[in-house]
Amino acid sequence: MKNIVILISGRGSNMEAVIRAAQAEQWPARIAAVISSRSDAPGLAFAAAHGIGTAVVESKQYATRAEFDAVLQAEIDRHAPDLLVLAGFMRILTPPFVEHYAGRMLNIHPSLLPLFPGLSTHARALAAGVTEHGATVHFVTAELDHGPTVAQATVPVLPGDTVETLSARVLEQEHTLYPRAVRWFIEDRLTQLNGAVHVDHTTHH
Ligand code: GRF
Repeated sequence: MKNIVILISGRGSNMEAVIRAAQAEQWPARIAAVISSRSDAPGLAFAAAHGIGTAVVESKQYATRAEFDAVLQAEIDRHAPDLLVLAGFMRILTPPFVEHYAGRMLNIHPSLLPLFPGLSTHARALAAGVTEHGATVHFVTAELDHGPTVAQATVPVLPGDTVETLSARVLEQEHTLYPRAVRWFIEDRLTQLNGAVHVDHTTHH
């Protein structure tokens, strides 16, 4: 049984998708805790309603990133996580924190990385005139939105798209992409070699 800790800052729809999949597909894992960097994150209520322990480490109470990350790390490590799942967690993490969870921390980013790291990805995709957009699940490394890619989902950019229509199309894909990638990790199907991720798709799992 592996322990998963999920970090959120807001809506938590990706967290919700992972929790639902873990329960419906009876993963050999438990969602040990959901931890939010904001006490007003709407996602906390869903987690609590599903019997998952929640905690808040309010980022605005800490003067430095190092202090915040130290308190957050202590809260996370109470749950002995095998995997940390960042799900709309809106914080830049310090290198010691990232190093501590090297190889066991995943993030989902709403673009086809390496395109559009950072914020406002959908607006930037529209401004760039790309015909395809999407989402990326990746291992977290010290460089923001640059870790090795685990999985991507692609959607078309359609004439007349707005940030709202495009982000909704991507989000729908995120909600199947992220649980699938997390499940691969839980099933020990992911290996990293020279900065690339290999997914074992053999059927014996
Ligand atoms: C998602 O688009 C995710 O890719 C990005 O932030 C958004 C979070 O949404 N990192 P939610 O909180 O999971 O609903």
